[in-house]
Amino acid sequence: MQQAKIVRTRADLQREISAVHKSGQRVGFVPTMGALHDGHISLVTKARENADFVVASIFVNPTQFAPGEDLDRYPRNEEGDVARLSGAGCNLVYCPSVEEMYPEGSLTNVRVEEMSDLLDGIYRPHFFYGVATVVARLFIHVRPDVAVFGEKDYQQLQIIKRMVRDLGFAIEIIGGTTWRDEDGLAQSSRNAYLSEEERRRANAIFSALHRAACRLRIGCPVEDAIKEARGTILAAGFSKLDYVSAVDPVTLQDLPDGPMEAGQDCRLLAAAWMGSTRLIDNLGV
Ligand code: PAF
Repeated sequence: MQQAKIVRTRADLQREISAVHKSGQRVGFVPTMGALHDGHISLVTKARENADFVVASIFVNPTQFAPGEDLDRYPRNEEGDVARLSGAGCNLVYCPSVEEMYPEGSLTNVRVEEMSDLLDGIYRPHFFYGVATVVARLFIHVRPDVAVFGEKDYQQLQIIKRMVRDLGFAIEIIGGTTWRDEDGLAQSSRNAYLSEEERRRANAIFSALHRAACRLRIGCPVEDAIKEARGTILAAGFSKLDYVSAVDPVTLQDLPDGPMEAGQDCRLLAAAWMGSTRLIDNLGV
């Protein structure tokens, strides 16, 4: 296994990327905040399938955390992450400092309006603005031809696609399938916060969405399927439910009440708290 090279400054990164572009190779990019699990590794595999040279970034982005969120306790393990990335065929790991990503006096942010204010955006109003800003900056630093984002963060994926379209980045955005544990729980770096008992109950969020998807497919009214899913999640011991929503997969707007129309696409999304851990999940219908 060849160890991926680590670069920490934009200048070093650009030297590497310019050489790769010059040799006519296609650059694939997987942005991460580290604390990697199998889901992240599957994104690297997907990037490998779509590019000749794969770059991953590890950067815990402060602008997507609100005061009081878990920025300080977010799990960090650079050495382990780089080893896993190398094993998956990643060629270069970009680990910039906060100053490298946000040079002193930075005033420029990216806001993808409307889509950032729905669903998770209601509960974490700063979140997608921080994500769009850092991803735009990472795109400018890395200059990839293709970038892979997990479908686990479905709203994030749609917002990035919209940003790329609106700002004219010449980057193909690919969604990577959500990686799940055997009981259906979506893999997430934050699963590490769950106690054994909480972890045992946490897959209820997936089971509830799965059943709602099955019910919608056979013509159950949207409001009934969602009501049942909410009940299942709360009965499993989630302490608080932020939302369960059935939305248009591209615009993220709520579907109207009643049975889905023939040919209508739908994505179910949910966010709920297991103790002090906030979990999100989603499923296509
Ligand atoms: O999904 C994540 O890990 C982060 O939101 C991202 C895309 C790396 C931006 O910080």
